[in-house]
Amino acid sequence: MNTNFLNTPFTLPCGVIIKNRLVKSAMTERVSNKKLEPNEKHHRLYKLWADTGLGLCITGNIAIDHIHRESAGNVYIEDERILPKLKEWATIAKSNNTQVWVQLSHAGRQTLKFLTTRPLSSSDVQLHKMGLFGKPKAMKEHQIETVIKNFVNAARICKKAGFTGIQFHAAHGYLLSQFLSPLTNKRTDKWGGKLENRSRLLMTIIDETRKILGDSFPISVKLNSSDFQRGGFTEEESLQVIKMLNGKLDLLEISGGTYEKTIMFGADGKDLEIKESTRLREAYFIEFSKKVRSICDIPLLITGGFRSFQFCNKALQGKELDFIGMARPFITDIDKIASFIHGKIDKLNNIIVKTGIKTIDDAAEAGYYARQLIRIAEGKRLDEKTRAFKSSFFVIKHELKKALIRRFL
Ligand SMILES: Cc1cc2nc3c(=O)[nH]c(=O)nc-3n(C[C@H](O)[C@H](O)[C@H](O)COP(=O)(O)O)c2cc1C
Repeated sequence: MNTNFLNTPFTLPCGVIIKNRLVKSAMTERVSNKKLEPNEKHHRLYKLWADTGLGLCITGNIAIDHIHRESAGNVYIEDERILPKLKEWATIAKSNNTQVWVQLSHAGRQTLKFLTTRPLSSSDVQLHKMGLFGKPKAMKEHQIETVIKNFVNAARICKKAGFTGIQFHAAHGYLLSQFLSPLTNKRTDKWGGKLENRSRLLMTIIDETRKILGDSFPISVKLNSSDFQRGGFTEEESLQVIKMLNGKLDLLEISGGTYEKTIMFGADGKDLEIKESTRLREAYFIEFSKKVRSICDIPLLITGGFRSFQFCNKALQGKELDFIGMARPFITDIDKIASFIHGKIDKLNNIIVKTGIKTIDDAAEAGYYARQLIRIAEGKRLDEKTRAFKSSFFVIKHELKKALIRRFL
């Protein structure tokens, strides 16, 4: 019989043991209550996920201030008033000896107009996507200091609430990734220009957090292997940043893409600067792992496209990575995950949503999964008949509704 590498424990540099190698990657929940707190919908989702037997569950992104939320329905952490609600959530999510880490984020220029028409970013480079995002203001020095303080404070509150680790979201074009990319960071001060300066915000946040949380609390970063945009954060730059991260982290998660190039959902776009060999593999960022392995020894989690047990097990056996990250199967295949971990079924579902209109396909894919996730959180069944075209408007409609409820009720 083949050895099941997926179902083996792993000890992180900080000493924490994760019971197996399957990780649920962050998925924004969009289901907070009017006060933007976690509630019974979070409890239901995270209990279901803990019951699958996964090793590590990373929460959807939680904002470090009340404005720069990725979703109008997402939780934010600014102070300890939210602590009792976080404690309830953490307690349920940790059942079944599950590690539960909070993904902390600031959306920067990717904050929807419904939340602010003038978000803060590294520079004033606007994101043009369906007219949904305002022109950002370049942060002043004191505002950067506030961002650092807020990330560290939110991480401290997560630990106090009982979450077992944190992850800083530095991928997918959110604020920390905006600072990293020369396309969105045009600054000429110590926070912009050469890579050392563009990565200063991320490095400072990690160092300051470590000082507060100590060496035995897991700290992770989700980083792009590349933005896949001409003139953006490249693979070479990503590798340089990873070298700088060596020794600072307990886990590095690799993904890729931004709102403008949504490659995190699949490497099938013809116009992407991505190698054919990568496109053809089940997990589209795994090629990058060899390069990462050769320059750093941070435990490695790769996310995007993993669906078959044999492929995952082989990648773990070959030490291409230490953890398998999955997101969408934790929506469409929750009831199969336990058998998957034990190697009893090989394939998980891979529903790709296509409208036939290329420009709205990424909105359709995101909308389909967002809607299904919310249905599960509400205790409903998956709606497998959802039409692709209808899905493409789901997120905008949901966000508008959530933003209006918050403003007027
Ligand atoms: C509904 C949904 C919400 C997501 N929200 C987040 C998020 O909050 N933070 C994040 O880093 N990635 C987020 N992602 C991206 C996933 O973590 C993951 O990188 C991507 O879906 C590829 O993995 P998969 O092929 O296993 O789905 C989200 C994906 C989906 C489908």
